[in-house]
Amino acid sequence: MWPYPKILAHRGGGTLAPENTLAGFRAGLQYGYRAVEFDVMLTRDEVPILMHDPERGRTLPGSGKIAETDWAVLRELDAGTWRDPVFAGERLCTLEQALDFCQEHGIWMNVEIKPATPAAARRTAELTAQAVARRFARDAGAALPVLSSFSFEALLAVQETAPQLPRGFLVEVIPDDWQARLAQLQAVALHTNHKHLTPALAAAVKAAGYGLFCYTVNETARAAEITAWGVDAFCTDRIDLIPADPG
Ligand code: G3P
Ligand code: MG
Repeated sequence: MWPYPKILAHRGGGTLAPENTLAGFRAGLQYGYRAVEFDVMLTRDEVPILMHDPERGRTLPGSGKIAETDWAVLRELDAGTWRDPVFAGERLCTLEQALDFCQEHGIWMNVEIKPATPAAARRTAELTAQAVARRFARDAGAALPVLSSFSFEALLAVQETAPQLPRGFLVEVIPDDWQARLAQLQAVALHTNHKHLTPALAAAVKAAGYGLFCYTVNETARAAEITAWGVDAFCTDRIDLIPADPG
């Protein structure tokens, strides 16, 4: 039901490095992490990049929407200083660069499709799924990434574009119709916020035969608790506190 790593670094390297950057992946490796979650968004000229926020301001200097800015502009921005001056000069990372890095270092991926706008859901999913499918077509032995999204529309587009790629139905709160949604998507797993999970819901998801993934678990006691409920895997910001999955 979950033939994948159990502990993932959230947004690349958790809070130990600038999120969704190669520096994050490197931080993860330093702590023994070979499994990551990251977010994929499209630039105006449809380059899939690793990005969480739909706008500049928090992790990138300046202002403006990612969906209205070309890659040629975004690639010049400092994506590291906001986290710590020691990361000054770190750049944004394209999906292609992330796939390169993760394949080179044997890092398993939970690729979260993060459309900058609802209207971009389908296109973001199509381009992400195509890039991942192309890459893994060359590497038949590797464990395929799971593609996840809060956008049901995006996951439907993944299903149509590259049905061979496993899908994770991502929700903040598990809806009443979760089982029908998972069945419609032919998803492998339900991804949800651990804060709203209950032992009964966890048991129901597992009894239905699905993987169960939680975000974002930053305390060892909570990790042990939800694991006892049957949760298969989770991502964490605290790669320095929660030991990496021995694999
Ligand atoms: O994929 C799980 C988690 O990353 C969802 O929340 O906002 O960190 O992308 P967020
Ligand atoms: Mg995410």
